[in-house]
Amino acid sequence: MQDGNVIHFISKIENIDFKESLEILAEKAGITLPVLENGIDNKKQLLKEKVYEINKEAALYYHQTLYKDISKSAQEYVKKRKLDNKTLKAYTIGYAPINSNLYKILKEKGFTDEEILASDLVNKVGNNFVDRFKNRLIFPIQDVRNRYIAFGGRVLDNSLPKYINSPENIVYSKARNLYGLNVAKNSKLEKLIIVEGYMDVVSLHQRGIENVVASCGTALTEAQGRLLRKYAEKVIISYDSDAAGQAATLRGLEILTNLGCDIRVLQMDGAKDPDEYVIKYGNARFENLVEKAISLIEFKIKVLKKDLDLNNVNDKIKFLNEIAKLVSTIDNRMEQEVYIDKISREYDISKEAIYAEINKLNYSKNQGKKILENNYRSSTIIKKKEVTLPETLVKRENMIIGILLNGKTKVYEKIKDILLPEDFKKEENKKIMQKLYEEFEKGNSNINNILEIFNDNEEIISILTGIMADDYEIKDDKKAIEDLINNYKKEKLISRKKEIIDILNNENIDKQKVINLEKELHDVIIELAQIK
Ligand code: UTP
Ligand code: MN
Repeated sequence: MQDGNVIHFISKIENIDFKESLEILAEKAGITLPVLENGIDNKKQLLKEKVYEINKEAALYYHQTLYKDISKSAQEYVKKRKLDNKTLKAYTIGYAPINSNLYKILKEKGFTDEEILASDLVNKVGNNFVDRFKNRLIFPIQDVRNRYIAFGGRVLDNSLPKYINSPENIVYSKARNLYGLNVAKNSKLEKLIIVEGYMDVVSLHQRGIENVVASCGTALTEAQGRLLRKYAEKVIISYDSDAAGQAATLRGLEILTNLGCDIRVLQMDGAKDPDEYVIKYGNARFENLVEKAISLIEFKIKVLKKDLDLNNVNDKIKFLNEIAKLVSTIDNRMEQEVYIDKISREYDISKEAIYAEINKLNYSKNQGKKILENNYRSSTIIKKKEVTLPETLVKRENMIIGILLNGKTKVYEKIKDILLPEDFKKEENKKIMQKLYEEFEKGNSNINNILEIFNDNEEIISILTGIMADDYEIKDDKKAIEDLINNYKKEKLISRKKEIIDILNNENIDKQKVINLEKELHDVIIELAQIK
């Protein structure tokens, strides 16, 4: 066999790329590959090698410690989490004891302070060297070449933070690695399942589901997406069923779809995460969920459906609209039909209704194009095009104006911080509200001359007289205002929720922003639940 073939062969059986294979071959043959970098990089390369060595020493030390008498609490915890010995070995899971002193151990092995600190396993506090991980269950993170690159440490009880992780350093880039890929790559990789946590990976693996990796809490990055893509054609996202997990799912979906992955979402009921699920229901049922995992479009429809009540006509129309939009993004006619068939059955909507909606959409798209084509010099025609607002919405806005005119300052004080004129969708109503707010703000509670204010605007005068003449059958002003305010709050929250999910879903934003948004999403959902 020629060298080229050997390399090819190694890449094939080890499932890694050319450069990596070359390095492995050289390593096995005891050859140092020529380093193309300059001296500084070379020094960095040497430090990196040392850190890999340190990490390996540490992983083995933690792992061995787990079996010692001093580690009773960790042994009990491992038992409680139902991890067997084979799993502990496969993932070198370990325990950092309360009095762990890695510095001493590593010094004895001849590592320098600089090297030890570069590993981030030990911090220098004043003149002391202190272990990062103490009294924690240790999950070493390995790269595809089985090098130990970082660590996650879990508390043995409910205290916080639940996990401490290695920071990014000379050998560790969080965004470029997936926990468990070194083990998963040895299994048949027709598809890869991506989960959130360390525990999900090891727990599924123990129960025979070996093609699992974790993105470790944060939403999937593009680099991780590419890594997944390299190893498997199909990817199944199986994140936690909480709001944060679902938001992360949407983002992950988008990234993986853009990378050309065949991506599915696993739907899980009755457990918060895969670990809990597989312990509760067994591997066969989990495998079944993998088989039944749904596509991006189905997932989006499901998310959409959550906020809607299909018995409500407005909601149903909205739902149909969105379905039509989603389905028309599918190029393939056959595939489109399959989806329409499925949706129709699942949500009890007639196929004709869905087709009609898609046709309508196509028609208005073409119309829009025509108008654009005919009027590319002036957009006034499009701007002027009447936007029809739902009747219920206009009625509600009118009602608020009516109550406000009726209750004056008393009502104004109650609603002014929650309902802003900008919230009003009908242009004329917006103007009326602006004027009313201005007057109340000035302390003018006597706005009987309201009609005079709009003297020259016939449209508004007619709306106002209409409102004043209308009997809304409101028996309890206070209750009516409360209901209206609640409705508005709810709508604002729902639209903010959508907005956040959209941002998380579509925009490339930094980690901190993701964390903030996910937190806000969480709060919004809780607030919504409280209103409902
Ligand atoms: P989970 O809270 O779902 O953890 O966070 P888990 O792995 O399922 O652990 P158990 O079952 O509660 O014991 C998912 C992942 O997010 C990261 C970890 O990588 C964790 O595995 N995480 C979570 C942190 O880095 N820090 C934390 O404080 C919490
Ligand atoms: Mn868990």
